Amino acid sequence: MPKKAKEIWKQVDQYFTDALIAPGDSFNAALDANRKADLPAIDVTPLQGKFLELLVHATGARRVLEIGTLGGYSTLWLAHALPENGIVVTLELDPHHAEVAIGNLEFAGLANKVDLRIGPAAESLTALAQEQNAPFDFIFIDADKASYPEYLQWSIKLSRPGTLIVADNVVRDGKVIDPESPDPHIQGVRHFTELVAAELRLSTTVLQTVGSKGYDGFAISVVLH
Ligand code: SAH
Ligand code: DHB
Ligand code: MG
Repeated sequence: MPKKAKEIWKQVDQYFTDALIAPGDSFNAALDANRKADLPAIDVTPLQGKFLELLVHATGARRVLEIGTLGGYSTLWLAHALPENGIVVTLELDPHHAEVAIGNLEFAGLANKVDLRIGPAAESLTALAQEQNAPFDFIFIDADKASYPEYLQWSIKLSRPGTLIVADNVVRDGKVIDPESPDPHIQGVRHFTELVAAELRLSTTVLQTVGSKGYDGFAISVVLH
């Protein structure tokens, strides 16, 4: 990607972030805490977090599932949008990431709306399915990309008609178009794309994004029936 293009994406991201997102709140504090704790800087951007919040508001979701918590930055946006009786179940493999996330959620006063489960997401998803709770209204897939196909299958199982399923990082600087890519993340996303395309219960689109985190995109599906 030309350096000049990247620079302008970043500046425009900053412009709208400054204009639309109140500074100095517990959300920014969470990003600071994540960097201090040496978590990788792969949180959604502030404007993307607010996009997730908007989707939760717009769908009236009460039960949200997130696969891949990191330091809970996206979790904060999801939880912030929920009504009083709402819950985000968020799944994280790394206990250190989970510990940082819990600190951030407590600091923001949102920990009471979050059920964080530590362990491989595939195991947590198996357990969730066995619990036979009400289906999720909104699902955000953002953990290891190689497992996106598996996470999609679980998401469908744990959904109802009308559930929105959003998957992060499906473009990855455009690398997704390389069928020969040796990167298991790319192959995971490509397999995920084949599955959503073939799945008659889903209607899916992809939004490409640019900004402070470069060039990427979201896949957005609605469960039809
Ligand atoms: N949603 C976060 C970013 C998540 S980054 C945000 O936008 O703020 C991806 C996370 O998935 C990392 O914390 C990583 O530890 C976690 N992860 C990777 N493999 C996993 C697995 N098998 N099960 C659960 N979590 C996993
Ligand atoms: C990676 C993971 C993410 O969830 C993300 O938003 C960006 C990058 C990664 O694993 O490189
Ligand atoms: Mg991501």
